[in-house]
Amino acid sequence: MDIFEVIRSRRSIKAYKDRPVSKDEIERLLSLAVLAPNHRMTEPWRFYVLGPEARAAYGAALGARKAKRVEDPDAAAAVIAKVEQSHRDLPSMLAVSTTLDGNPEIREEDYAAAYMAVQNLCLAAAAMGLGTHVKTGGVMDDPRARAAVGVGEDERIVATVSLGEPAEVPEPKPRRGAAEFTTWVP
Ligand SMILES: Cc1cc2nc3c(=O)[nH]c(=O)nc-3n(C[C@H](O)[C@H](O)[C@H](O)COP(=O)(O)O)c2cc1C
Repeated sequence: MDIFEVIRSRRSIKAYKDRPVSKDEIERLLSLAVLAPNHRMTEPWRFYVLGPEARAAYGAALGARKAKRVEDPDAAAAVIAKVEQSHRDLPSMLAVSTTLDGNPEIREEDYAAAYMAVQNLCLAAAAMGLGTHVKTGGVMDDPRARAAVGVGEDERIVATVSLGEPAEVPEPKPRRGAAEFTTWVP
């Protein structure tokens, strides 16, 4: 697959085969992630490769947040257990964080650079036949989720990325053409 086809065929993957992702595969992806553009070469990205216990703990934190909307205690406990198990069952999952520069301009650039690294990782994974799903949300700042990842006070989690061999590849989402968003400025 050339780069154009990789970009066109990448999807957010929700269902994965059981095959684990090897350490070699993850290291290869991360070695490509860190080639992302980066103003001032701050190298702000940090990657946490979560094992099953860490994934389950992150899932439990996410589940507890979802369960707040459920009144019945048994149903709430079931929500937590389900989200915890679904995270434990992922073939692989990473948390991506950035360092927090004191200068707001650099901090914003670092956030952007971290997402360029995430996109490198997602496209490289697609080229290797692996699926990814980038996720965000308030859970990233939740103390239980942060503890599950083991991230330090001086970092901000900016994404989690589920990773594995796709069991199902969804149809492309409808998207408008680039011309609708483009102004050619003379
Ligand atoms: C910054 C960012 C955050 C996202 N957060 C979530 C999320 O929290 N939950 C989720 O299901 N998908 C999340 N996604 C995935 C998008 O829903 C997905 O990219 C979009 O539906 C388009 O589908 P595609 O990636 O298959 O083209 C996120 C994507 C990005 C770029």
